[in-house]
Order: sequence, then C-alpha cells, then structure tokens
Amino acid sequence: MSGNITFTMIKPDAVEANNIGPILSMINKAGFRILAMKYMRLTKEQAGDFYAVHRERPFFGELVEYMSSGPIVAAILSKDNAVADYRQLIGATDPTKADEGTIRRLFAKSIAANAVHGSDSNENAQIESNFFFSHLERF
Ligand code: RTP
Ligand code: MG
Repeated sequence: MSGNITFTMIKPDAVEANNIGPILSMINKAGFRILAMKYMRLTKEQAGDFYAVHRERPFFGELVEYMSSGPIVAAILSKDNAVADYRQLIGATDPTKADEGTIRRLFAKSIAANAVHGSDSNENAQIESNFFFSHLERF
C-alpha cells in the first residue's frame, strides 16, 4: 500500500448527532477515497489500546470512556499527502481553535467530543489502519 493513506474515526458525538453523512461528504469533496470502512462500537479495552500513547495523560480515563460510549465509523482514506491534508480538513483538537470550515469547527462539541480522529504521521496511519482492518477488508 502507498504511504498516502490516513486513518480516521467519526467519533461517538458525531454519530449520535447524525453527522456521518455530512462528514463523509466533506471527506469525499476534499478528494479522499475510502479504502476501508466499518461501523462498530469499541470496548474500553480497545479504546485504551488505540490511544495507548496517551495512557499517562490526565484526560486518558475520560478519553477511553468517551470513545467507548457509542458507535463509531472507522475508515482508511487515500489521497496524495493524506495525513497532513486530512489534519488540515479536520482542524485543531480544540474546536474553538479550529479554522472556519473545518470538520471539527463545524461538528465538534468539545475537546473530548471532537467529532473525528485523524492520524498524525504516515507511520501511525499504517499502525492505526492495521489495528482496525485486515488486508482482506481493504481496496
Ligand atoms: P485525535 O488523535 O483524536 O485525532 O486528536 P488529536 O491528534 O487532535 O489530539 P491528541 O493530542 O492526539 O489527543 C487525542 C484525543 O484526546 C482527547 N483530548 N482531550 N481534555 C483534554 O484536554 C483533551 N486533550 C485531548 C481529544 O478527544 C483528542 O482528540
Ligand atoms: Mg492524535
């Protein structure tokens, strides 16, 4: 697989607010192709494993509770410069600091409930994609 992939989740707040469709529309309009996708609910253990790099952070417990609180959409996205371009499309972690027109500015409720996840490096895009999808589930 090329290096030009990123991994995303539509988080529980955005699913609950019926924003899967508008967010996928923004993703497609920005030129990303979807290589894999699933709708599922994470256990606390899976959420903790996914965000293991944040285990020592004060918000870790809240993050795990929140990410396992309802269903999410997980997807692998493909585009030139996918990681950086997707971080730009989603905006800053804190939605009050996210640029106008970004997914988080439009749809996030708070720093914790911030609508979407996006990989922060090519290496993590591969690791996170492998966490959710087998090779048979990708196009
Ligand atoms: P993500 O990994 O979900 O795409 O978000 P990010 O890179 O923009 O932010 P990161 O630093 O990786 O933090 C992961 C997630 O932890 C929650 N968080 N809460 N309460 C807080 O101060 C706080 N800080 C971070 C957010 O849900 C963030 O997306
Ligand atoms: Mg992150």
